[in-house]
Amino acid sequence: MKSVITGSGIGVPKNVVRNEALTRLMDTTEEWIRTRSGIEERRYADPGQGSAELGSIAAEAALADARRSKKEIDAVIFATMTPNFYFPGNGPVLQAKMGFPETIPTFDIRQQCSGFLYGLDLADSLIQSGKYRRLLLIGADVHTPFMPWEMGWESTIGGTARELTPEEYAFNTSIRDRTVLFGDGAGAVVVESSEDGDRGFIAAKLFTDGSNIEALYVPGVGFRRRPYVDKEQVERAEPIPVMEGREVFKQAVSRMPESVRAVCAAAGVNVTDIDLLMVHQANLRIVEGVGKALALPSEKVPHNIERYGNTTAGTLPILYHECVRDGRIKPGMLICFTALGSGLHWGAALYRT
Ligand code: ACO
Repeated sequence: MKSVITGSGIGVPKNVVRNEALTRLMDTTEEWIRTRSGIEERRYADPGQGSAELGSIAAEAALADARRSKKEIDAVIFATMTPNFYFPGNGPVLQAKMGFPETIPTFDIRQQCSGFLYGLDLADSLIQSGKYRRLLLIGADVHTPFMPWEMGWESTIGGTARELTPEEYAFNTSIRDRTVLFGDGAGAVVVESSEDGDRGFIAAKLFTDGSNIEALYVPGVGFRRRPYVDKEQVERAEPIPVMEGREVFKQAVSRMPESVRAVCAAAGVNVTDIDLLMVHQANLRIVEGVGKALALPSEKVPHNIERYGNTTAGTLPILYHECVRDGRIKPGMLICFTALGSGLHWGAALYRT
């Protein structure tokens, strides 16, 4: 028995924000963003549109693609680091929004940029255990609320741009290494037990190293603090993620190839047997670096970061869905998913289409 992806869908906001728009908000250039990250545009959610809303759109599309009704789903896994509420997680929000019966349990997981990858292994494990036969897995993140985007919204989308104060411009510039990288988006898949020959999940290797959490984390709004959030934390901008970009870059281009090699070794296949390597979309230079480290030709390493930026848990399912839609994923292919993100969490999973 294998776990098979039987449908996929995406939920991306309608608002396209090109690099040029960000140059009005901070000291950056279109060229810097494009050459350092590969990003040309990203999408920003509407005000009031959270990761649960985008996730619901993706989930409805994935169910339709799999030709499954809500009643046929046994459980839901929602991966996000940006839930609508601190608690509860997005699972019950999605359950109520989509009208799933209350008999369907929902699991909330995080793992940031590796959230969807971890969710795939969890879905496979739950199916292999025999407890559930059909799962809906969603990866969704909405990053714009991390940013001082009230003014960003006005200047990039709202069409009622006002002049930023010098203080606002200086503050935006101080976080420009992060803000330019992220976009909002969601993807979802239906994973089912199947006896359809070789088709399905083969193996996964997942890793965690918490020895340098400060390389990529949110310093404020945590329960080690009393109170867990206060005005001073907000004034010190501590709800905004901190990132040592070069360190994370270095980890990404070494750890992802290592985990791909590890999962191939565990499955008894060669890295060169991989038909498509689906790399978490954080930076085009990282995606290309991972492909190069594994000596895979560029046509085997698809990317869409130029259109979406980093959508965290959304990137892998959005990329997967677009590759299916565009006919790049064909029956019988060996696909490898790999991701690395805050934690650090990283890993790789092999899948036969
Ligand atoms: N516009 C213009 N200049 C900028 C910008 C910007 N948006 N951001 C930074 N710079 C400047 C820096 O200040 C620096 O200037 P200096 O040389 O005068 O000091 C210069 O550009 C070079 O900065 P670097 O940090 O060396 O640039 P680098 O080439 O490393 O690119 C980047 C930075 C894009 C952040 C890269 O390091 C990266 O992609 N890191 C990994 C990100 C990642 O994978 N995150 C994980 C996923 S996120 C998650 O898990 C939630």
